[in-house]
Amino acid sequence: MNNNLANIKKSIFYLNKSECVAIPTETVYGLAANAYSSKAVRKIYALKKRPRNNPSIVHYSSLNRLEKDCELNKNFLILYKKLCPGPITFVLKLKKGSRISRIVTNNKTTVAVRFPKNKLTQKLLGLLKYPLAAPSANISTKISPVSKEDVKEEFGNKIKFILDGGRSTIGLESTIISLVDKPKILRLGGMQRSKINKVLNKIIKYDRNNKKITAPGQSKLHYSPGIPIKLNTTEPKHDEAFILIKKRKKSCKNYFYLSKTKNLKQAAKNLYRILRKIKKKNYKSIVVEKIPNFGFGEAINDRLKKASAK
Ligand code: TXA
Ligand code: MG
Repeated sequence: MNNNLANIKKSIFYLNKSECVAIPTETVYGLAANAYSSKAVRKIYALKKRPRNNPSIVHYSSLNRLEKDCELNKNFLILYKKLCPGPITFVLKLKKGSRISRIVTNNKTTVAVRFPKNKLTQKLLGLLKYPLAAPSANISTKISPVSKEDVKEEFGNKIKFILDGGRSTIGLESTIISLVDKPKILRLGGMQRSKINKVLNKIIKYDRNNKKITAPGQSKLHYSPGIPIKLNTTEPKHDEAFILIKKRKKSCKNYFYLSKTKNLKQAAKNLYRILRKIKKKNYKSIVVEKIPNFGFGEAINDRLKKASAK
């Protein structure tokens, strides 16, 4: 614990100097900076090579703080009470007088906010005088990091500090729900849709075509290991990495299991780790077995589709 406290203090030291620090969350690691400082937030965009028109998520540890920046509504309060802290991000209206940097929101009147579950990050947020803007801690379009080592692989020593909180327990980004008008899901992720539906007692639509933010001509590619991926394959060629959802009787060295028992939650947790592993083994292409499209399978298929976009 002492070690943790020293590392939290080190994070505060750099964040207060408008530097970026990588922080652990239960979904993926984030590249964090003071959300109230444009100077600090610009550094996130430069390090990630992230297009400026893609707004970032702001992370909080308490409702008191959030109230200063956003308009809270009934749906938000219901979801917050049941599902936070956790892998869900809310898009809300910005409050007049909010200090959130215009760079974080790309000058929009809305902001995406979230309450991460990782204990170290919660403690860090509680000790800071500002919330943290934090997109996933990877170079834009690449695979999201789920451990300190992954973040190192992405940025080398270009970032000042990585707060080590162990491996992310969920392993996929948060689910994003817009609560600005009628609730709608903008991104599938670590919070299952069925849970959100249950809490709000209605079926929330997934806005699959929410083209939003992306600039014309910008590649659809995301979460990419940098080699071609083909989905819904039954048999691989001998030189292709083959991702499977359950154990086969006859296994080969190019077989990579997301789960041995078709457990979709476990598969979601392993997805980015396995994509990274395959990339390091220098395979030239990846093929993936058909993955059931329900529960966490929906989010896994969404990521694989984007990772295989041309
Ligand atoms: O689990 C997560 O959400 C992780 C951890 C670090 O919290 N963060 C994450 O951030 O995945 P990022 O930047 O990789 O993805 C954020 C997504 C982007 O697709 C962005 O377009 C969307 O959130 N977003 C941000 N602000 C928005 C807004 N005001 N309206 C709609 N979408 C927004
Ligand atoms: Mg990302």
